[in-house]
Amino acid sequence: MNIETKQQQLETTMRLAPVIPVVIIEDAKHAVPMARALVAGGIPAIEVTLRTPAALDAIRAIAAEVEGAVIGVGTVLSAKDLHAAEQAGARFAVSPGISPNLLEAADDSALPLLPGVATASEAMSLLERGYRNLKFFPAVPAGGAKLLGAWASPLPQIRFCPTGGISLTTAPDFLCLPNVLCVGGSWLTPSDKLKNGGWAEIEQLAREAALLKGVIGR
Ligand code: 3PG
Repeated sequence: MNIETKQQQLETTMRLAPVIPVVIIEDAKHAVPMARALVAGGIPAIEVTLRTPAALDAIRAIAAEVEGAVIGVGTVLSAKDLHAAEQAGARFAVSPGISPNLLEAADDSALPLLPGVATASEAMSLLERGYRNLKFFPAVPAGGAKLLGAWASPLPQIRFCPTGGISLTTAPDFLCLPNVLCVGGSWLTPSDKLKNGGWAEIEQLAREAALLKGVIGR
């Protein structure tokens, strides 16, 4: 599949809702009720990070059982991660940065990759390869909305999903930028709510996040 088709798929996913929840899941049996709560609250695209042994089972379960969810895989560091996530049913992949091996694997894979960048040079290198949708990571420590906003004029082709250190309160600072389609964040799925089955609370957090649509300027 060519890069432009994958970029279009990625853009569609990034436009589904203002926030992509970044999930660290310890128990795969929490995956389906969590994803149902997020979808019910208006947040369909979900990134389950490969940081726990439960992650791939969680992705498999959400892909098979949760109608309306667009399940993604996060913390993809290698070609092996990318292939495993694709086989588990992930529909998009997110990486904190880039490596030559991962980019090569992404070229050969049908799974759209949203790679992380923290500098204009990294963004330019990826643009040369056809990537016009990027993650800005770690958004707040790397320079926040001020840095990202400064890229809008010289890099107008690129749209970002800033992630890292963003909350419900600070998300509008990013979402109002012309080069931002959505933000990523872990605040929608706190570990205690996952552990205690706080699905109604997660749905409520999703509802609040979905309302951020009002501040997106495009
Ligand atoms: C992460 O590294 O887990 C993601 O960037 C999410 O970051 P956050 O916990 O600051 O939202």
